[in-house]
Amino acid sequence: MQNFTLHNPTRILFGQGRIADISREIPTGARVLVTYGGGSVVKTGTLAEVKSALKDFTVFEFAGIEPNPTYETLMQAIELARREQIDFLLAVGGGSVIDGTKFIAAAIPFSGDPWDILAKGAAIERAIPFGSVLTLPATGSEMNNFAVVSRRASSDKLAFSSPVVFPLFSVLDPSKTFTLPPRQVANGVVDAFVHVTEQYLTYPADAKVQDRFAEGLLLTLIEEGPRALQEPENYAVRANLMWTATLALNGLIGAGVPQDWATHMLGHELTALHGLDHAQTLAVLLPAMLQVCREEKREKLLQYADRIWGLREGNAEARINQAIEHTRQFFESLQVPTRLSDYGIGTEAISALMAQLERHGMVALGEHQDLDIARSQQVYEMAA
Ligand code: NZQ
Ligand code: ZN
Repeated sequence: MQNFTLHNPTRILFGQGRIADISREIPTGARVLVTYGGGSVVKTGTLAEVKSALKDFTVFEFAGIEPNPTYETLMQAIELARREQIDFLLAVGGGSVIDGTKFIAAAIPFSGDPWDILAKGAAIERAIPFGSVLTLPATGSEMNNFAVVSRRASSDKLAFSSPVVFPLFSVLDPSKTFTLPPRQVANGVVDAFVHVTEQYLTYPADAKVQDRFAEGLLLTLIEEGPRALQEPENYAVRANLMWTATLALNGLIGAGVPQDWATHMLGHELTALHGLDHAQTLAVLLPAMLQVCREEKREKLLQYADRIWGLREGNAEARINQAIEHTRQFFESLQVPTRLSDYGIGTEAISALMAQLERHGMVALGEHQDLDIARSQQVYEMAA
């Protein structure tokens, strides 16, 4: 096992009715800016529930944070927050709203150009404290310190992280996910699945409990993902899915093990140039990535084939192929297509994707930093 430091300060309020408890988590007298997306929280009544819980605070609202939150929109929220001297933020929505709110929180007290936080990895000393009410299990943003922001003007989709952007608290009420459209349910399952594989399908580090934990999360996604689509109002299914997605990227399974993240980096360029949903990019790229990197991932792929898909017969190469095929079929069974061509993207699009990777310095990716630009090209080609 590798050395690690693990510190996760986010308080989780899990279960039905927990929105009512947020007032205790916010400092008395705070001027709170509630941030949300395109209006799902208005329609579902979640925003009304939040506002009722905040009745003793001075509350402002910022609506319109889009999926793949944009710098352009977030800058408007930063301006509002500075003008109104906001001292607490509350994100109500999915990963995009929470990520956007992390950027707002870091940018409000930042003295330089906020774009440098993303483009230059500028150091952030502090951030406005914030909490979240999660409505879409997928990203793990509710219990981690990462955020991904897009800039429309320059087709960039860039990430940042900082110890100061962990949410102070997050409400996970599974009943708030009953209203999710099937596409978003499926996206969430695929995203959480690939978060696990990015931290598990690398090379053995003799990290027994991290492996078993990762395998438990994958098996739960395989069992509960399809059920959530079939039985949207099954609370137990939603609860298992919600907690699984959080645990998939809150630092726990990644502690002490090598991590990959190349599928995510190549995926961000697909979203930046072609607007695919984050999870769609992962469904397309993961099977291709596993093929291209099958030699360096060999031992873990065989473990994955055995423990996740029960593949114990036949030679090793065949078992690896079958495991990759089962992964693809799982995504397809959730109605998330796994080929670039399914999204109308042809091989002529690959050169622009390569240029984006180079421009963003993504030239030595993966757990061995050996996924260079030529091998990334192979991944995009294999995903065609
Ligand atoms: O905008 P509204 O109207 O709220 O609708 C949203 C949005 O259209 C809708 N939705 C959310 N909850 C709902 C609901 N509709 C009905 N009922 C509900 N309960 O779902 C749509 C998608 O929402 P979004 O927040 O974009 O989805 P997701 O949670 O998948 O977030 C994706 C973003 O997170 C980033 C992705 O890159 C992408 O920008 N990621 C963040 C990570 C992190 N912070 O650690 C890691 C991930 O790998 C990922 O990169
Ligand atoms: Zn992801």
